[in-house]
Amino acid sequence: MSVDTSVTIGNVEFSNPVFVASGTFGYGVETDELVDVNRLGAIVTKSITPQPREGNPPPRMVETPSGMINSIGLANIGVERYIGEMLPLYESFKTKIITNIAGFSVSDYAEVMEKLEQADGSICAYEINISCPNVEGGKMEFAVDAGMTLTLTKELRQRTEKLLIIKLSPSVTDIGEIAKAAEDGGADAVSAINTVFGMSIDTSSQRFNIATGIGGLSGPAIRPIGVACVHMITSAVSIPVIGMGGITSGSDAVEYMLAGASAVQVGTANYRDPAAGLTVLDEMITFCDEHGFTSLSQLAGALKDES
Ligand SMILES: Cc1cc2nc3c(=O)[nH]c(=O)nc-3n(C[C@H](O)[C@H](O)[C@H](O)COP(=O)(O)O)c2cc1C
Repeated sequence: MSVDTSVTIGNVEFSNPVFVASGTFGYGVETDELVDVNRLGAIVTKSITPQPREGNPPPRMVETPSGMINSIGLANIGVERYIGEMLPLYESFKTKIITNIAGFSVSDYAEVMEKLEQADGSICAYEINISCPNVEGGKMEFAVDAGMTLTLTKELRQRTEKLLIIKLSPSVTDIGEIAKAAEDGGADAVSAINTVFGMSIDTSSQRFNIATGIGGLSGPAIRPIGVACVHMITSAVSIPVIGMGGITSGSDAVEYMLAGASAVQVGTANYRDPAAGLTVLDEMITFCDEHGFTSLSQLAGALKDES
């Protein structure tokens, strides 16, 4: 039996629902020779900001039980160089490119999007990283405030007709409320989850293991949080949800789909094996074959919930 792998989110059809997550696959061009990137459903780039950023001082990554903590601090080449250097390379890619945008004010996000819209490269979607402190809004993260999420989404919706995905943080009281604000602001989809805050201390030196002390925890340790968040979001909104957090296998991805995700992203697992996303895809297809699903999209929300 052949399994139909395609999924549609908003107005975009992806060849399959397995994407690589922002910040874990560079700009998508680095692993070109190691991995058949064209078999991925999409590549989500690292966050792009108006100006180039060095990011936080090292050390900025540490392994933790079933995961890792990072404090990269949005290191990136800035939107001008991204347009000049990366967009031309994407012309030869068959996989879809989703550009992730970050900023510290509404105008930061708007500036990056406007420049990308003018450049008119082969980007199919924007993913908006709202886990950034809003310097105009008392340094509170956009992600923790439904009002700021609504305002930001509305502003960006006015600037593009491309697929608009708002990426949510799990570190909030009610993730459904924030997802609803994104939906009300005109988002086509939401993605979840970004990292969970965490800290690791080297007891022998009595120092933090990463320079910033607190960083973002990712990997299998956060998978149950991500699955729960996706399930809560799907109860709150009717737009599609893209699930992530700790996916390392086809079974992990199927878990997210059953909880309601329409697609998934593989992040930290790429650090161990840049082809992790392809393994996840192959294992999802095998799962469907073995369990009588004729398409990957049938998995979305197929949870048997008798509670
Ligand atoms: C080293 C590293 C860098 C990341 N950088 C970004 C980023 O620039 N923008 C963003 O939206 N998410 C970023 N993330 C978060 C991931 O995209 C993802 O949401 C999170 O790690 C959960 O998925 P995972 O457990 O599969 O890694 C980063 C994660 C890691 C591990």
